[in-house]
Amino acid sequence: MLRVNDMNVYYGNIHALKGVSLEIHEGEIVTLIGANGAGKSTLLKTISGLLKPKNGEIIFKDEHIAGKFPQLIVKRGISHVPEGRRVFANMSVEENLELGAYLRKDKKGIQEDFAKIYELFPRLHERRKQLSGTLSGGEQQMLAMGRALMARPRLLLLDEPSMGLAPLLVKTIFRIIEEINQTGTTILLVEQNANMALSIASRAYVIETGKIVAAGTAAELSASDQIRQAYLGGA
Ligand SMILES: Nc1ncnc2c1ncn2[C@@H]1O[C@H](COP(=O)(O)OP(=O)(O)O)[C@@H](O)[C@H]1O
Ligand SMILES: [Mg+2]
Repeated sequence: MLRVNDMNVYYGNIHALKGVSLEIHEGEIVTLIGANGAGKSTLLKTISGLLKPKNGEIIFKDEHIAGKFPQLIVKRGISHVPEGRRVFANMSVEENLELGAYLRKDKKGIQEDFAKIYELFPRLHERRKQLSGTLSGGEQQMLAMGRALMARPRLLLLDEPSMGLAPLLVKTIFRIIEEINQTGTTILLVEQNANMALSIASRAYVIETGKIVAAGTAAELSASDQIRQAYLGGA
């Protein structure tokens, strides 16, 4: 579904992604794990068109999308839930969700998706008239995910959805990610919480200072001594 080939991304002189290649097959949950500053957010931002790579390819469903505008990439079926949620604080839950559908014209489909998202996140339905800035961190994460789903993506990019959430809420968010996947959305999940991410992913990549240093099935990586020591608390 998605293939990244030998991609390099810079911030000025800083070489943030160094020859990154990866692929995602339709229907998978793939996780990208790595320490703070490894380049995870940079990779998601480049796939969604917020950053332009210096070179390399990004191919989504046979179309080259590297360096294309974000709105074109959303139209093609890729939605990005950014790190730190970034909901519009002065707008209601409902208005934030509406914004997620701003490129769509199918009114009926949009109404259906509102219903689906409220079913997936009953909490958002309860709070639909509430200003988003007054939601808890977990609720804002749900809203950011709901807003991305309003674009009806085929591929959902999730940047550290569990960051800053209490353990019980982390479990809820991961359960919902699995549900979203089971209803037909492919997922690229960026996480520092590697244990949880590997528990729901089929495959994983490990990134260190801008380079992919390991790749395999989630089971293979969970069983690797090196990965366990570096990313899974050595247990
Ligand atoms: N806007 C920016 N300007 C300059 N350097 C940046 C910028 N954003 C990120 N970086 C650098 O790029 C590297 C990768 O960052 P990032 O992709 O945010 O890592 P991660 O998401 O894995 O924590 C880091 O060294 C970071 O300092
Ligand atoms: Mg990041």
